[in-house]
Amino acid sequence: MPPVKPAQRILDLPAYLFAELDRAKAELRAQGKDVIDLGIGDPDLPTPAPIVEELKKRAEDPANHGYPSYEGLPAFREAAARWYGRRFGVELDPATEVVSLIGSKEGIAHLPLAYVDPGDPGLFTDPGYPVYRVSIAFAGGIPAALPLKRENGFLPDLDAVPEDLARRAKILFFNYPNNPTAACADLDFFEKVVSFCRRHDILACHDAAYTEIAFDGYRPPSLLQVPGAKEVGIEFHSLSKTFNMTGWRAGFCVGNPRAVAALGKVKTNIDSGLFQAIQYAGVEALDRGDRIPLELSGIYQKRRDMVVKALRGCGLEPLVPRAAFYIWCPVPGKGSSREFSRKLLLESGVVVTPGVGFGEHGEGYFRITLTQPDERLREALLRIQRVSETLW
Ligand SMILES: Cc1ncc(COP(=O)(O)O)c(C=O)c1O
Repeated sequence: MPPVKPAQRILDLPAYLFAELDRAKAELRAQGKDVIDLGIGDPDLPTPAPIVEELKKRAEDPANHGYPSYEGLPAFREAAARWYGRRFGVELDPATEVVSLIGSKEGIAHLPLAYVDPGDPGLFTDPGYPVYRVSIAFAGGIPAALPLKRENGFLPDLDAVPEDLARRAKILFFNYPNNPTAACADLDFFEKVVSFCRRHDILACHDAAYTEIAFDGYRPPSLLQVPGAKEVGIEFHSLSKTFNMTGWRAGFCVGNPRAVAALGKVKTNIDSGLFQAIQYAGVEALDRGDRIPLELSGIYQKRRDMVVKALRGCGLEPLVPRAAFYIWCPVPGKGSSREFSRKLLLESGVVVTPGVGFGEHGEGYFRITLTQPDERLREALLRIQRVSETLW
């Protein structure tokens, strides 16, 4: 039988930009070289013990062994609503304004199926989390990138969106604190988003995965703090970075009840909810409140200071983040971000992510993550310093 041709949506996926880097990484490792990966945003520290203990206890209870409810246990949704109330002063109805997710990626990837018809444009910020573009395309929509430029503080210029595009667009994905630039948005910007989306009948989809990792006392806001935001917006939140739970796959979407219900409807047809024992562990995490992410932020802040100082010492000009665990840094010299990352890896064994991997508007930058233990980070910085004189 001839091999079946994959669907066009798979064939249309952009070339995997990290393939070359992955190959070089594998080759170095095969040669026995010690590679330090500052490319992946996956916390090195474990999930706090009380959360793990709660999972163990709940996993032993047969009541949690069946199919979970699609929209999430009331206990989980209530905990998410309590947390929003405490953290942002935003009131949510757990019955209609919260839905559990199998990680926020799952919700982001499925949301366009609820709102984007074939041929509809979907707006997203670029550079950005690659799932925005792909999920719009998978729904048959037309991904329309809004460039994030340094001169605008890496915020999209909504006034520059052509009227015709804005009129036809169905959704807008955006994300602050931002991955990869680590830029932050204040409530003024969120107000602009709300009025733009209201004017053009667009669903504002804010990816808030990094609101809890922030430095120097800064507390990133929620889109839903803007009066009226719930009429046009939803917000995705994740337990992954806030509580070192990336492997657990737990998140939630909150906001506009119609949009929450529409996303829930997609999910009832695709997945069967989040393991209840994980949801109970999530309740434990959310009810513990701020202490865990505040402690984590303290650790990342020290690492940020160490990395920024060392990079400056090598003649680089990193942007100093106020939140998220990423350092966004202009590529030195004239080469592309891919060439730079490749050379750096081959010469020093340190992996950094080329900015273009996050979209064409990420060209000219590279990203370093702060999710390696201090001593590994220190070693990586020493190696970068050693090669800096020959590479730039
Ligand atoms: C900007 C952004 N959004 C969403 C996610 C997805 O997080 P999760 O699916 O673990 O909740 C990530 C993960 O790296 C991210 O960087």
